[in-house]
Amino acid sequence: MIIQPRVRGFICLTSHPEGTAQHIKNQIEYVKSKGKIANGPKKVLVIGASTGFGLASRISAAFGSDAATIGVFFEKPAAPGKPGTAGWYNSAAFENEAHAAGLYAKSINGDAFSDEVKAKTIELIKQDLGQVDLVVYSLASPRRTHPKTGVAHASVLKPIGQPFTDKTVDFHSGVVSDISINPVESDEDIANTVAVMGGEDWKFWIEELKAAGVLADGVKTVAYSYIGPELTYPIYRNGTIGRAKDDLEGTVPVINDILKDVNGISYVSVNKALVTQSSSAIPVVPLYISLLYKVMKEKGIHEGTIEQIQRLFAERLYTADGQVALDEKGRIRVDDLEMREDIQAEVAKLWEQATTENLEEISDIAGYRNDFFNLFGFNFPEVNYEADTNEVVNVPSIE
Ligand code: NAI
Ligand code: NA
Repeated sequence: MIIQPRVRGFICLTSHPEGTAQHIKNQIEYVKSKGKIANGPKKVLVIGASTGFGLASRISAAFGSDAATIGVFFEKPAAPGKPGTAGWYNSAAFENEAHAAGLYAKSINGDAFSDEVKAKTIELIKQDLGQVDLVVYSLASPRRTHPKTGVAHASVLKPIGQPFTDKTVDFHSGVVSDISINPVESDEDIANTVAVMGGEDWKFWIEELKAAGVLADGVKTVAYSYIGPELTYPIYRNGTIGRAKDDLEGTVPVINDILKDVNGISYVSVNKALVTQSSSAIPVVPLYISLLYKVMKEKGIHEGTIEQIQRLFAERLYTADGQVALDEKGRIRVDDLEMREDIQAEVAKLWEQATTENLEEISDIAGYRNDFFNLFGFNFPEVNYEADTNEVVNVPSIE
């Protein structure tokens, strides 16, 4: 079929298999261009491996460190006449490239929050790898069915305490407008968001992997967090999602305790704001990102997901002397360039000025849009989008 983008709000309903394959190729080329990661991981489990930071983690481990990877994700396969999700095509392309390079790569498609998928993953590790030495936890989801209580939790993106009004952009039309978001009405919204995006499921994973004996001596595990600028505090770090991130970060000592007798260690890495399927759903954030991209590109320090994660692996998690640099709260920071004072001062200035009329000029909204379409395999010059393409693509080693 001929596959073109079909956009509804911050979602693109279609994905292009050849375009996503090109996206994967580009990311692999980048990782290879940086050379091998010294003392890198060898057997890696990535939970949330099909898009965004998790996908970049899988690519960095495989092509930066020759690692065998098991990827867990929740995606929809293609059917005749109906394209699969971007994460499905990404995983198919990733596995094809990994297998061609002689690397082990298998995938599990299902609900990572469930006991069943955890058990299935453990079985696969036992069968094929024995143990893993790195577990990347990179889930982003609007809901979670709790495996012990059966309660279906839905997360919300709301401020806490007072309403929040600021600028936002519709990144397709480029219209800048004010948005007001009412605060949570009850603590239940906070508790639900923490249940979905906090640290409990990460802890469950590590507990179960540990109990099954599939964590190697000296295992590392990392989950991803975000802080960002003061202007997004009310909706992000001081809002419901921020409470979930506090909870995630607070889980590090709990997991370290679980990992003590396998000499393992857990980290939270605070990453840069980037265009992913998850971040495009957060009000205000796309405008911030498009201004941030402009400033960081001008200064020559812009990074995408693959650049961020390759640097996380090579310069934080796996250093030559084994030292992992942490901030005063014990977190890894690869948002260091985003948070630089000169960058933030410049973004704050542009934020004040931003209007529908000047947006194209003062921001990198064009770069934002391009990254958004790239997520779904569109806008790659190598691909002919007018041509018929086979929409039914299999992930070769799916369980
Ligand atoms: P994403 O939406 O690109 O990736 C989410 C992944 O989770 C996908 O692989 C998806 O298949 C998987 N997933 C979702 N629900 C699942 C389920 N029930 N079972 C199995 N897999 C499931 O998101 P992104 O942006 O890469 O986020 C990953 C982490 O990075 C999140 O913790 C996010 O808060 C964090 N982060 C994101 C930043 C950003 O700007 N995008 C910045 C800093 C941190
Ligand atoms: Na991810």
